[in-house]
Amino acid sequence: MQSFERTTLCGLIDEQYLNKTISICGWVQKRRDHGGLIFVDLRDRSGLMQIVFNSDFGKEAHKLAHDLRSEFVISVTGKVIERAQETINNNMPTGKFELQVTNLVILNKSKNPPFSLEDAQNVDEELRLKYRYIDLRRPLMQNRIRIRHEVCFAARQYLHDQGFYEIETPILTKNTPEGAREFLVPSRINQGCFYAMPQSPQQYKQLLMASGMEKYFQIARCFRDEDLRADRQPEFTQLDIEMSFINEEDIYRIIEGILKNIFKKGINVDIPTPFARMKYQEAFDSYGSDKPDLRFGLKIKNCSEIFKDTELSFIKDILKKDGQIGAIHIENHEFTRGSLDNLTDKVLKMGAKGLLWIKIKDDNTFDSPVKKFLPQDFVSRMRTLFPEIGENSTLFMVAGYYENAWDTLGRLRLELAKELNIINEKELNFCWITDFPLFDYDRETGKLDAKHHPFTAPQDGWEKLEPKNMLARAYDVVLNGTELGGGSIRIHDSELQGKVFELLGLSKDTMNAKFGHLLEAQELGFPPHGGIALGIDRLVMLMTGSQSIRDVIAFPKTSRGFDLMMNAPTEVEPEKLAEYSIKIMARKKD
Ligand code: AMO
Repeated sequence: MQSFERTTLCGLIDEQYLNKTISICGWVQKRRDHGGLIFVDLRDRSGLMQIVFNSDFGKEAHKLAHDLRSEFVISVTGKVIERAQETINNNMPTGKFELQVTNLVILNKSKNPPFSLEDAQNVDEELRLKYRYIDLRRPLMQNRIRIRHEVCFAARQYLHDQGFYEIETPILTKNTPEGAREFLVPSRINQGCFYAMPQSPQQYKQLLMASGMEKYFQIARCFRDEDLRADRQPEFTQLDIEMSFINEEDIYRIIEGILKNIFKKGINVDIPTPFARMKYQEAFDSYGSDKPDLRFGLKIKNCSEIFKDTELSFIKDILKKDGQIGAIHIENHEFTRGSLDNLTDKVLKMGAKGLLWIKIKDDNTFDSPVKKFLPQDFVSRMRTLFPEIGENSTLFMVAGYYENAWDTLGRLRLELAKELNIINEKELNFCWITDFPLFDYDRETGKLDAKHHPFTAPQDGWEKLEPKNMLARAYDVVLNGTELGGGSIRIHDSELQGKVFELLGLSKDTMNAKFGHLLEAQELGFPPHGGIALGIDRLVMLMTGSQSIRDVIAFPKTSRGFDLMMNAPTEVEPEKLAEYSIKIMARKKD
């Protein structure tokens, strides 16, 4: 067994260690061989420390140091001395000192690493994911993981102090149509049957309220077999919360308290509370999104009225079919033809039929591909909506069904903000979005889908409205255009639950097969309750200014759902599958 010592950490060395003999351990970041002197930057979790080998004060160590290469794991003992004035490194917290090594133990060697830690930022992400344990040695990654830990720890502490219990719920559970597609796990003991992995602990946490737990939380792993994006992973983590005998205000208070605490402890930032609130309808009308980025304006306005006598035939058609036209106005910016074409391409890719732009010089002069079809007084008509229209204004318009056109305008708004460079990256803009519709309504099929999930309580007076106009007691918390979390006050009455299932098109048999447990619990003393879940990964991504959710997860999957380090998922031997009575119909194509 190699014997080694560690009396302190590399990054902690300061005046108090001067002229003292210490032992530190870590990885060789860099070695510079000057013949008689060998310098090594030694790295551990706390930071870097320069160590020096010189045969005058450590003959054996100096000899051995010739073998050191990047990522060797070593332990060294020696005296901390002050560096000569001209060799002080102000970019390193320990840059005033170095360690004169008297003893070196090589604890492990390393092959030449697949990439250098110092320029990992320029290395292909797939390579970094394959060697994730090396990527995680980088200070940037270590800091992200540390902040993630602080976030979870602060949340736990806060919720504990508020009287919450942390309760685990099963990972092997039941397949229920709750929203996202689930991952299935075959049961060997119950052949032909499958568990589903939870897309969230939603039903369990509600049932914990039926159990009288009153205040529950869990840092819960959730699994969703859905298409991935920069802010989505197939397995992710929620800070999941449920409370009994509460209303919306209790949820807002608790979440604002948690986030305040998390931002302070995680990145030492004071966030102002209470957060602003906005109704879903206003968010969608003005920002084309239920998660508006409120760090900038560029509000959407409905200009359908202005086009009601238009000669533009495609707009006429859209208006006839109950469509609408929305516009965004940009002041004082000269768009080149190239950037207008580029924006048009983007809008087409978003699925819209086109982007209508109008560049305004003055009230009587404007430029647009559809100029000759616009009335002479077009600018003054538009000024009724956008009084600030002036020289060098540009209007962008999208026409279509309200939901589609506004969704496109919402995304265009974000593109425009990027192009204009008007987003203050330092700002943290929190907002509650409230009064969501209860259902998503499919115009083509007439089908309803739960907007949040089918356990969400409708707002009072729901029974007097058409389903597509019913509102939910649901809320989302949004930060800088990202949905951090969402939740609702739940249905606790089985009759009402049955009615909502019915509106969603579930037959009595399906209801009982899939949700019988919940419907029955609702008849056995279910208290009023509600909750919310915050996406921990998204939260840490925003707190650390990371571009991707993968950057804040120790071992993430690629956008195709692969774990490149473990090489999962893999095929399974037919004999193993036979134990589950499973036969593969088609093999994965390479
Ligand atoms: P919801 O589905 O809105 O609600 O999820 C809550 C939060 O979880 C995060 N999130 C994700 N993060 C990463 N990858 C994903 N694939 C992913 N999907 C969701 C988001 C989101 O806001 N049971 C309800 C909560 C409740 O009603 O209490 C639920 O899961 O930040």
